[in-house]
Amino acid sequence: MAMIEVRNLVKRYKNVEALKGVNFSVEEGDIYGFIGPNGAGKTTTIRILATLLIPNDGEAYVGGFNVLKEPDKVRKIIGYMPDYFGVYDDLLVWEYLDFFGAAYRIPRADRAQIIDRTLELTNLGVKRDSFVSELSKGMKQRLCLARTLIHDPDILILDEPAAGLDPRARIEMRELLKELKSMNKTIFISSHILSELSDFCNKVGIIELGEMIVSGDIDAILKQVSTGQLILIEFAEGTDLKMASEALQAYPNVSTVWERDVNALEVHYEGGEDETSDVMSYLLQKGFKVKAFKEAVNDLEDIFMKVTKGKVQ
Ligand SMILES: Nc1ncnc2c1ncn2[C@@H]1O[C@H](COP(=O)(O)OP(=O)(O)OP(=O)(O)O)[C@@H](O)[C@H]1O
Ligand SMILES: [Mg+2]
Repeated sequence: MAMIEVRNLVKRYKNVEALKGVNFSVEEGDIYGFIGPNGAGKTTTIRILATLLIPNDGEAYVGGFNVLKEPDKVRKIIGYMPDYFGVYDDLLVWEYLDFFGAAYRIPRADRAQIIDRTLELTNLGVKRDSFVSELSKGMKQRLCLARTLIHDPDILILDEPAAGLDPRARIEMRELLKELKSMNKTIFISSHILSELSDFCNKVGIIELGEMIVSGDIDAILKQVSTGQLILIEFAEGTDLKMASEALQAYPNVSTVWERDVNALEVHYEGGEDETSDVMSYLLQKGFKVKAFKEAVNDLEDIFMKVTKGKVQ
């Protein structure tokens, strides 16, 4: 049974169609990375799954329950981490968790032990008696995650848990997520950075402007997009990049061209590796002044976003 199933989900805000018929499914034990740039519709989708927002059309099921018809059942089995941390200035860390534990109707007698265990898991044991307002951003984020774990949910729905963290805190967050993975939780996690998720997600979905571009097994998708090479071409100053880009697009096996900089283009070339230099000769022949021509070093997420987009257009 799918733990999360979304069918043809549509959400409109006044004049924005934030979700234009989104489909995907997440199986038990999956770590599903939900990737997309700002405004893609990630938070909108997540809030629908968390029963906080009503879609205009389509269906969503979490743990087999329809989010519209049985929201209470959905809430019990999910741990939802929002993309913001509310203000809880006057609470101590343990009180904060106790508050949520009570909200989930965990018996008082069990709460202390559960809170201590959760604090230990999220590496916040030493902050048990600190004020929430005195925590650093990274600690607050971990506390927010701790709160989603308090009722031991099977499904975690996390909206950019690593957003705004420094590199060290990001790594700590990642370690924590790995630990949750090893506890066999199904995790649905959004981010605008794929590389951050790629080493522990087994599935990814890429959403852009309310449309799902790809969804599925990460290895299969990576294979699909990793053919060919990315070449970075720097032109002499004053080059008409638009013309250069058009010339390149007309060249065989060039699948996509992007502007990288004021004087640089990046090309996804799917021809043979030995023929790469022909692309350069072609440009020179056409009268373009090429300053540098080299394999582009890109992080995974870059390649992913661009190549996928190139494929769809
Ligand atoms: N309450 C709202 N009223 C009107 N438009 C909204 C509202 N919430 C979101 N939108 C719009 O819906 C679209 C999707 O927004 P959403 O917050 O789901 O994106 P996101 O992928 O989470 O982006 P980010 O990476 O910035 O968090 C955007 O165009 C946004 O402006
Ligand atoms: Mg968001």
